[in-house]
Amino acid sequence: MTVLAALAPARWDVKILASDIDTEMLAVALAGLYPEESLRSVPPRLRDPYFVRLSNHGRHLVQIAPEVRELVKVRRINLMEEGWPIRTQFDAIFCRNVTIYFDKPAQHAMLQRLVHFLSPGGLLFLGHSESLLGLHAGLEHVANSVYRNRARHPHRPLAP
Ligand SMILES: C[S@@+](CC[C@H](N)C(=O)[O-])C[C@H]1O[C@@H](n2cnc3c(N)ncnc32)[C@H](O)[C@@H]1O
Repeated sequence: MTVLAALAPARWDVKILASDIDTEMLAVALAGLYPEESLRSVPPRLRDPYFVRLSNHGRHLVQIAPEVRELVKVRRINLMEEGWPIRTQFDAIFCRNVTIYFDKPAQHAMLQRLVHFLSPGGLLFLGHSESLLGLHAGLEHVANSVYRNRARHPHRPLAP
C-alpha cells in the first residue's frame, strides 16, 4: 500500500516477496482478510483506497484490494536453512521480530544470509529490539534498526 501510494506504479516494476515458516500464517497473508476493527491504526489515506469492505454473516470484514495482493508473492521459507529459493536481490528487506527466536550463532548466520540478498544501496529493516550483533560488514547504520548496503548500485545514486 505504501509503495503504491508513494510511487507511480506504471513506471516501477514492483515485486514483493512475503515469507514465513508457518503455513497457517501464509494462508492468512494470502487471504488478506481481516476484521474491520483491526484497521483502526491504518491511516485513512491507505485504508480507503486499498481495502474492500465485505460482510460475512453480520461480521464486518475488510480484504486487501486486488491491486495490492497482485504485487505480493507468498512463499514458505525457513530462514534457518541454507539455500533459500530466491534468485534475486531486494531493494528493501523487512525482517522484524524474527531473530528473537534464535540463539546468537543462528541469528548471525541468518543475518549474513539476509545481507547477501540485499541489493547495492538496499535497506535492511530489523525490529526495534533486534540488532546486527556486530555484523556490520558492508552495512551502514541509517536509523534505529535500519541499515543500508554500502555497495553502490552501478546505475543508481544513493538516496541522501
Ligand atoms: C513475532 S512474529 C513477527 C511477524 C512479523 N515479522 C511482524 O513483525 O509482525 C515471528 C514470525 O517468525 C516466524 N518464524 C519463526 N521461525 C522462523 C523460521 N525459522 N523461518 C521463517 N520464519 C520463522 C513465525 O512463524 C512468526 O510468524
